[in-house]
Amino acid sequence: MSGTAAQGPRLRPTLDGIPTYKPGKPAGADAYKLSSNENPYEPLPGVLEAAVAAAGSFNRYPDMAVSELTEELAARFGVPAEHIATGTGSVGVAQSLILATAGPGDEVIFAWRSFEAYPIITQVAGATPVPVPLTATEDHDLDAMLAAITERTRLIFVCNPNNPTGNAIHRAELERFLDAVPADVLVVVDEAYIEFIRDAEVPNGIELYRDRPNVCVLRTFSKAYGLAGLRVGFAVAHEPVATALRKTAVPFGVSRLAQDAAVASLRAEDALLVRVEALVEERARVLAALTGQGWTVTDSQANFVWLRLGERTLDFAAACAAAGVIVRPFPGEGVRVTIGEPAGNDIFLATAESFRKAL
Ligand SMILES: Cc1ncc(COP(=O)(O)O)c(C=O)c1O
Repeated sequence: MSGTAAQGPRLRPTLDGIPTYKPGKPAGADAYKLSSNENPYEPLPGVLEAAVAAAGSFNRYPDMAVSELTEELAARFGVPAEHIATGTGSVGVAQSLILATAGPGDEVIFAWRSFEAYPIITQVAGATPVPVPLTATEDHDLDAMLAAITERTRLIFVCNPNNPTGNAIHRAELERFLDAVPADVLVVVDEAYIEFIRDAEVPNGIELYRDRPNVCVLRTFSKAYGLAGLRVGFAVAHEPVATALRKTAVPFGVSRLAQDAAVASLRAEDALLVRVEALVEERARVLAALTGQGWTVTDSQANFVWLRLGERTLDFAAACAAAGVIVRPFPGEGVRVTIGEPAGNDIFLATAESFRKAL
């Protein structure tokens, strides 16, 4: 037996830099889960029925071209169907984007802290993550991101609004940034939370991509649309980027359940957006209450709020858990709390108030 056989299969060393996924403690049945930015509402009736009907044929592979959903999205955004590429959640599409652009020796730039998958999917591809710290006001430091571009930069993520801070970038600032990025570097504007934006100065990425071949917009059905468990997201990108995405995606990744539920969600959009509006109102209530308690908060344009707690982060998360709400701690940095049902938000607010008084 050779030495290598005794040691087991050789794995790529780049994987050593990736944290092993540790499942969190499952939220107790009576706890409010405010840790994953999910929509707290049950599926709308038409959406549930579409998914249930699709379940009857899960012995068959889904439509690999995701035709109906693609056509529906293309019509909705006024873009060619060839510009739409779907995937297993927008994180699946983000991974395909990296596989399409970057490999060993290449660099991927993103703000930090931002969506925690960015460094992971970059390393999975063997490329090098280049995190650029947020400013003191928790905003993307777009000048520093421009300064971080090198010959090796292949892709830049811009998370608008940013997860977990909620801050959004305004139109003029983002346009200036996009105009300064070299044409051969792909900029991915990740708009996972766009439906929650109420600040009119924040641009819609679809407007920005139209005359910029190196801009791609990333969207998801997981957040406002409430389909997190079905795994469907999409990119709007020019060819050849969209074509490359179809090559690097996992074949048949988007199930028929997901495809049909997404189509039904788009058709039920009016009812859906009423629910989103209710969450936006809850967000305003929560932010006002936190400010009233003396916390400094960001102007979150997403379905979550951010408290920078530094060393007190884990204590705060533990206090929330003890009170019956599960929040998302980033140890040493802060806590992200999803806007959920009013009763859950109230428990969070009461915990925040007593925690603040005890400081
Ligand atoms: C900024 C951002 N992008 C993408 C995603 C991925 O969502 P999904 O893969 O469910 O579409 C998330 C989820 O938390 C996110 O916060």
